[in-house]
Amino acid sequence: MTVSQTSTLSAFAQDVLDGLSQEKRRLSSKWFYDSRGSELFKQIMSCPEYYLTEAEAEIYRHSAASLYEATEGQPFDLIELGAGDGTKTQLLIERFLAAGAQFTYRPIDLSASALSDLGKLIKLRWPRLEFNPIQADYFEALDRLGSSTGSRLRVVLFPGANIGNFSPTEAIGMLRNVRNFLRPGDLLFTGFDLKKDPAVVLAAYNDPAGYTAAFNLNLLSRINRELGGDFKLDCWRHWETYDPVTGAARSFLLPIEPQTIVLSEVQRSFQFRAWEPIQVEISQKYTLREIEGIADASGFDFLRHYCDGRAYFTDSLWQVPTR
Ligand SMILES: C[S@@+](CC[C@H](N)C(=O)[O-])C[C@H]1O[C@@H](n2cnc3c(N)ncnc32)[C@H](O)[C@@H]1O
Repeated sequence: MTVSQTSTLSAFAQDVLDGLSQEKRRLSSKWFYDSRGSELFKQIMSCPEYYLTEAEAEIYRHSAASLYEATEGQPFDLIELGAGDGTKTQLLIERFLAAGAQFTYRPIDLSASALSDLGKLIKLRWPRLEFNPIQADYFEALDRLGSSTGSRLRVVLFPGANIGNFSPTEAIGMLRNVRNFLRPGDLLFTGFDLKKDPAVVLAAYNDPAGYTAAFNLNLLSRINRELGGDFKLDCWRHWETYDPVTGAARSFLLPIEPQTIVLSEVQRSFQFRAWEPIQVEISQKYTLREIEGIADASGFDFLRHYCDGRAYFTDSLWQVPTR
């Protein structure tokens, strides 16, 4: 296995400094997934309140044949944006292989530990499946893939409602980027979380066991470890909000008392008032109509939605126009 390496530390430091310097402080959720964060995310996925994983697994089980049909039996590169532990993707892979599909699996993730665990698992289950991971940010990975040669069909998976970590405007920009590296006929299969009972949404990000709170607080531990920070975790609280009008669920971390945080590795300090929030995640929810509008705005032909039985989640299949 060759993992294409990129240094993420300076990008991490830059992002943290930029985010904490803003008037409305924020940290990007893309930095959640160090090895502890990836482990905590697995715990979150096993919580009954976190409906997203089971909803998308159900969709993958019943949509695999139809998705493979859309490739018209051509060999393809299966490119996955933000693969994580790839548990759900294995549901697709096993069905594709059983149908005789010829493909290379190219997971992209910032997290080295997630890709390394996924590599071991794939090698164990399907030693002959070509596995070419890329450890990089989505944009950098797409750039690298865009300039790579090869004329095989590209099927891009963007699972787990990762697109929800962008605002609707950012999502269109991101998806246009994906569109630019694809060619006519290529396919994009994206998971979107749907607008629903606000109580269901809020419960998904507030599990009683406290895994979500620990997952969010782990970002402060990561800053302590990698940037010499002195966040005292027991002085911070996790808080979740959901706005049913915009569809934005937001996660915040708030200090229970005033604090001055020093990041010794980058020689910066930040003062916080008591209860001054840092936004650490947005999880955007959509209607099916809104998703179809996003397909259009980002230059794709919308083909169809695949929803779970409760209509909590959709994976939406789009194609780069061939005309
Ligand atoms: C919410 S997890 C989803 C994992 C898996 N796809 C699933 O559906 O269960 C998000 C994954 O995307 C990765 N990720 C988040 N932002 C990223 C970015 N900008 N570039 C590359 N990977 C990213 C994280 O490291 C993490 O493994």
